[in-house]
Amino acid sequence: MESLPILSLSSLLFITNLLVSLVLMIICILRMKLISFQSNTNKNLPPSPPRLPIIGNFHQLGSNPHYSLKELSQRHGPIMLLRLGSVPMLVASSSQAAQEIMKTHDISFSSRPNSHILNILLYGCKDIAFSPNNEYWRQLKSIVVSHLLSNAQVKSFQKVREKEIGLVIESLNDSCGSSVDMSALLVSLAENVMCRVALGKKIDGLKLTSLLRRYLNMFNLFSVGSYIPWLSWVDQLTGLVGKAEKVVNEFDEFLEDVIREHENKKKLDEDNVEFEEGKDFIDMLLSVQKDVTMGFAFQKDTIKAVILDIFGGGIDSVFTSMEWIMSELVKHPRVMKKLQKEITEVLQERSVISEEDLERMQYLKAVIKESWRLHPPVPTLIPRKSTQDVKLMGYDIPAGTQAMINVWQIGRDPALWEEPNEFKPERFSKNTIINYRGPTFDVLPFGAGRRSCPGTQFGAAVIELAIANIVQKFNFALPDGVKNEDLDMTDKYGITVHRKFPLQVIASPRF
Ligand code: HEM
Repeated sequence: MESLPILSLSSLLFITNLLVSLVLMIICILRMKLISFQSNTNKNLPPSPPRLPIIGNFHQLGSNPHYSLKELSQRHGPIMLLRLGSVPMLVASSSQAAQEIMKTHDISFSSRPNSHILNILLYGCKDIAFSPNNEYWRQLKSIVVSHLLSNAQVKSFQKVREKEIGLVIESLNDSCGSSVDMSALLVSLAENVMCRVALGKKIDGLKLTSLLRRYLNMFNLFSVGSYIPWLSWVDQLTGLVGKAEKVVNEFDEFLEDVIREHENKKKLDEDNVEFEEGKDFIDMLLSVQKDVTMGFAFQKDTIKAVILDIFGGGIDSVFTSMEWIMSELVKHPRVMKKLQKEITEVLQERSVISEEDLERMQYLKAVIKESWRLHPPVPTLIPRKSTQDVKLMGYDIPAGTQAMINVWQIGRDPALWEEPNEFKPERFSKNTIINYRGPTFDVLPFGAGRRSCPGTQFGAAVIELAIANIVQKFNFALPDGVKNEDLDMTDKYGITVHRKFPLQVIASPRF
């Protein structure tokens, strides 16, 4: 009974301290807000939609941000400044705005935002896609571009592409006129090619697919802490952090095993002196790691992070591209016939398509580019972060602002394209050379500038050969008597934008 007043006194002291700290904190926040308000009022910031306290403009994004951003930009202009939680986010919705960010001010906008979740998912952002712009990123990207993804390397994996595409053709032949899940065939094609090229072997399909899906899905989940840092404890509470740690630990175990196998194999190979043949990405990264003349030291975590990037960047976007191209071809029998005619003309009497033949298939390239115009796999690209104050289209953009580029909207901009929502490869087929990357800023599936995708050649090599082979050998109808023209093209937002429903087709051999 006696100790009660003492306890109350200490509680009282504790509460008083807490209150004083809270008041001090509020004063600090208000002062910071006032300073930032004063400095921002002198600035000519881009137009912003009205926002709510704490969450800012999040409620206006909805489940399909590329659509909502288009609507917002129609009201506020091609350059808008949103606030996502406490993150200032510039949104570019026109070709000119995209060019300003990815060309004129490319250096200022070539960093990436960082967050606790990204650090968990990518070994402290030791990968390429989410590393900030620094010497480490420049060296690593240059190694990956010149050693793993160069034209010569892409060519050297031709046999892998041919073999895996052959398996898709076999499955379509075996389907004997029944309905086939084309999306599933294409996802396993993309996974198998990437596994063989990166790891030197195929992995038990289901095990890797499920791990990969769970891993990629982490990038689609909303992390409160990434936008409202003082609420980052919520990510712990909702189980997001635990989930991320679990899937990364599983991937880490998998990658540890694969790297160990490669190190052991390499020892054996070195004894036999001929390991130059059949090198996969892990072999190459291990060789670079040992090469002291490179002047760039990196740890095993870097190898793992690069492989995760390549899986994350290379599998889904290649699969999604093929899924949309096939959907557009099935929906437009006129285009399908025209493409089949081109393939027949290039091949003449031959039946096997070589990669040299692809160079002469300009309509094929026009079909692919037109599909990327309408369905860029990463519709708002990966956010960039500015490291300097810049003046952009007359507006002041403070350092630390993030930028999203709505390439999906640019691809459908009526100011750039006649009948923008129609699938018409002819709009490109008049060009003598079809370039998937520029020179203009109107079709941007790979982004542009320093942060652009290093995997264009790699991706295009798989996509062109797969589409040419599939289209050459089969005609396609839709199940249940649905007319081709009525194919549902609804999409589903995520780190890449897929079809909402898998593409089911009936394939009939042409010969
Ligand atoms: C059709 C296939 C592909 C598409 C549409 C695609 C698209 C993209 C896009 C939009 C970006 C972000 C660019 C930006 O922020 O401006 C990107 C970055 C990246 N992609 Fe791809 N990608 C494809 C294939 C690949 C492949 C096959 C690989 C690797 C084997 C790859 C590896 C990467 C990496 C490492 C980055 C990060 C670059 C950086 O931040 O510096 N991608 N990709």
